[in-house]
Amino acid sequence: MCGIIAAATEKSVGKLLVQGLYKMEYRGYDSAGVALHQVKDIAHLRSLGKVEKLESKMKKQKPRGKIGIAHTRWATHGKPSEENAHPHVSKDRVFIVHNGIIENYIELKEQLSKKGYVFVSQTDSELIAHQLDFFLSQKHNMFEAMSLLKKKLQGAFAIAAIDQSDDSHFYLMRNKSPLLLGISEEGMFAASDPLALVDITNEFVFLEDGDVVEASASEYKIFDENEKRAIRKITKLNISSEAMSKNGYRHFMEKEIYEQPTAILNTLDGRIGGEDVLENIFGEGSNDLLSNVERIQIVAAGTSLHAGRVAANWFSAIAQIPTQIDYASEYRYKNPYVDKNTLFLTISQSGETADTLGALHYAKERDYLGSLTICNVPTSSLARESDFMLLTNAGPEIGVASTKAFTTQLAALMLLALSLAKARNLNPKLRTRVVSALRSLPEIISESLNLKPKIIRIAKEVAKKDNALFLGRGIFYPIAQEGSLKLKEISYIHAEAYPAGELKHGPLALIDKDMPVIALAPENELAEKLISNLEEVKARGGKLFVIGNAAGNMTLKPKNLINLPECDFLLTPILYTIPLQILSYEVALLRGTDIDQPRNLAKSVTVE
Ligand code: M6R
Repeated sequence: MCGIIAAATEKSVGKLLVQGLYKMEYRGYDSAGVALHQVKDIAHLRSLGKVEKLESKMKKQKPRGKIGIAHTRWATHGKPSEENAHPHVSKDRVFIVHNGIIENYIELKEQLSKKGYVFVSQTDSELIAHQLDFFLSQKHNMFEAMSLLKKKLQGAFAIAAIDQSDDSHFYLMRNKSPLLLGISEEGMFAASDPLALVDITNEFVFLEDGDVVEASASEYKIFDENEKRAIRKITKLNISSEAMSKNGYRHFMEKEIYEQPTAILNTLDGRIGGEDVLENIFGEGSNDLLSNVERIQIVAAGTSLHAGRVAANWFSAIAQIPTQIDYASEYRYKNPYVDKNTLFLTISQSGETADTLGALHYAKERDYLGSLTICNVPTSSLARESDFMLLTNAGPEIGVASTKAFTTQLAALMLLALSLAKARNLNPKLRTRVVSALRSLPEIISESLNLKPKIIRIAKEVAKKDNALFLGRGIFYPIAQEGSLKLKEISYIHAEAYPAGELKHGPLALIDKDMPVIALAPENELAEKLISNLEEVKARGGKLFVIGNAAGNMTLKPKNLINLPECDFLLTPILYTIPLQILSYEVALLRGTDIDQPRNLAKSVTVE
């Protein structure tokens, strides 16, 4: 999604802004731009495509300025193009960058057109520059113009702006879209993502909804939603720049797949004791909350939703708690019935997914017992706005395709299932067994990473096809869904997932020699039935690849079968995810796609 960076220093900031844009590339974008205050005018450069193109334009034109704003755009209104790229400008005077969506843009655009403003882009963002210019023409200063603008706009927005007649400040505004200040001795900075400022500072101020900020190289002033001067806490974040580098791997996704043993270790660290989960790991007072939970409502999107689907099985099997699960984008619109003592549980890597955050805001107005988030970003909106949280501690995930975020979410959700069982005095022996199995999990996952050569052989077959079917049963159906999502998002192969028993109710018609079928076959109570389903596929000439130890007695070529290390059956969904991640990665590699930034996708989806 879009990325904003702004800077005010005593030196030229062009290079620094571009470096910040590079750091936000992982979020997904289609164009980039910068506006640099050169005192007598503002240099304005934009380009369609990668930040590299913007950088080479800058190298040619050599703009210099101590104040500047820059942006990576992910198209919402208007196609990806140079005219639609930010910054947008009004009368060569006001330059703005914007993340989010202005919901009343048609009405505001009409009003401004009647006042003589000419629109040159198809975006909902350009009006922001014209509206600010209009307020400036009414003798308001830039700070007043920003405050007046805030009252006009509806929707979600993070905005940074500069004014040609003010060569010492940049201005910011935030409503429901992340924006923060970075404070350093070198100057003042702002970004929509702290990773953009990782080489500049570790001191941040997270802005709140309704905030307007005036910042110069030496100071910043924040005014809250009621226009009162606000003093906000400075948060220190120690993000190592190593986390932002590929560290010898070809892609961030590859690095993140291999980081999973350590990431899971970090999720478990300090949360399990001798034989059980520790108390209050979701925050002070969380034990009291958990002992009152009778139902769970999960809301999440994409990969995080798949983690929720696995967890729903665990909550039922381990803690005897029924769970309702909904897509974040759907939940609010179905007039959900809230039963008594229901816990509202969100799952999100970024903690900024607009649909999930919107669902939390809605849930806070309903009669839930409390809200809990499983999240990877401690400073995110979900982490800050939920009553309780458990951080997955996976470290920054840069590849758009979620890998370590998913497996650490599963580990965290297992901790929740165990904590709920503990709070209800259920299954003490099982808890001890699973805690011990969790301790061994990082090592088992390391072992499974060695399966790569075998998986590459399957990848070579799948990469030649245009479709793929993933099959699983029970708790492995969401894992099949995750495998299918991973394959389609990074290799652009059309893939679908089915519970294997559903095949005969329709999808079996798709089976022929061109349809690779990837089946998850663990040794569990459903193994026999699953094998019969797979025999049906084989009998119809389907190209079958089986991952799991239950397929031993099927007549499969060894290259079509992948056995996995032994693992406690309750944790097998985590283990079986690993070969599917490697498979997608290797297929995408063979097809030469942009693995870390697949087309049309964004890392953190901050629009509804
Ligand atoms: O940050 P979140 O976990 O809330 O993101 C939700 C989805 O957008 C995300 O999981 C998406 O499906 C992944 N890119 C898939 O790999």
